[in-house]
Amino acid sequence: MSDNIAGKVVVITGASSGLGEAAARHLSAEGAAVVLGARRAERIEALARDLAGSGGKALAVETDVTRREQVKRLVDAAVETYGRVDVMLNNAGLMPLSPLERLKVDEWDRMIDVNIKGVLYGIAAALPHMQRQRSGHIINVSSVAGHKVRAGGSVYSATKHAVRALSEGLRQEVKPYNIRTTVISPGVVLSELPNTASDPEVAANLRKMYGDLGISADSFARAVAFAIGQPEDVDVNEILFRPTRQEF
Ligand SMILES: NC(=O)c1ccc[n+]([C@@H]2O[C@H](COP(=O)([O-])OP(=O)(O)OC[C@H]3O[C@@H](n4cnc5c(N)ncnc54)[C@H](OP(=O)(O)O)[C@@H]3O)[C@@H](O)[C@H]2O)c1
Repeated sequence: MSDNIAGKVVVITGASSGLGEAAARHLSAEGAAVVLGARRAERIEALARDLAGSGGKALAVETDVTRREQVKRLVDAAVETYGRVDVMLNNAGLMPLSPLERLKVDEWDRMIDVNIKGVLYGIAAALPHMQRQRSGHIINVSSVAGHKVRAGGSVYSATKHAVRALSEGLRQEVKPYNIRTTVISPGVVLSELPNTASDPEVAANLRKMYGDLGISADSFARAVAFAIGQPEDVDVNEILFRPTRQEF
């Protein structure tokens, strides 16, 4: 077991698939209690049962991160059940890429609601508990697209740049409360993310790119565990990682 993970209470949004699920499995195996949020309740309930069956502590709470009260309920459930919240992993997100000229305005709205506002609601839900505890760790998930902009990815990139900006401001503001902050920016990692593209041409290109380049979601889980597992006086603020063969 890694130091400083066992016994921690970790809330994970978007835990029903991909990176969030992989983080839940990894951290549970390291001895953390995990509190799983996502809209697909049956998925997180099955995952919680699976982890409990292996001797872990896990709780599933159906959560839509675009609903502030639901994110608060998720974090409050962690505190009610396990007594505290040590880590808030704001991971839920979607990536329906398309060129701006196709005017998929509803998808722009959804990306802003989930990728930005969902992260803010996670911060709002966790921060009061962590301030009271005088300890905690907020981990936000950005992307390589939070560092680079490519045609067809403007809105997604904008949301992921926003996550980095919020994370840096948060980092500075929560110092007095002994709260750690990390922003993790993955490259191409195998998950259900390409399925969120509604444009058939974009979806086909994404599936090919993920097939050619994608690395296992455990790469993300290990990055999360690295940040959490540091001694409490070490604050890992940024992690950017890619598949070795990913050029952009
Ligand atoms: N995979 C990559 O290559 C990659 C690279 C860079 C960054 N990322 C980021 O990593 C994060 C996780 O994505 P992933 O790759 O693991 O994709 P994924 O397999 O599609 O998982 C996305 C997760 O977000 C959840 N989600 C979506 N909308 C939600 C909502 N309104 N409320 C609550 N949960 C919601 C989904 O759960 P439900 O549908 O059950 O609600 C699912 O658990 C995202 O922020 C993504 O932008 C991924």
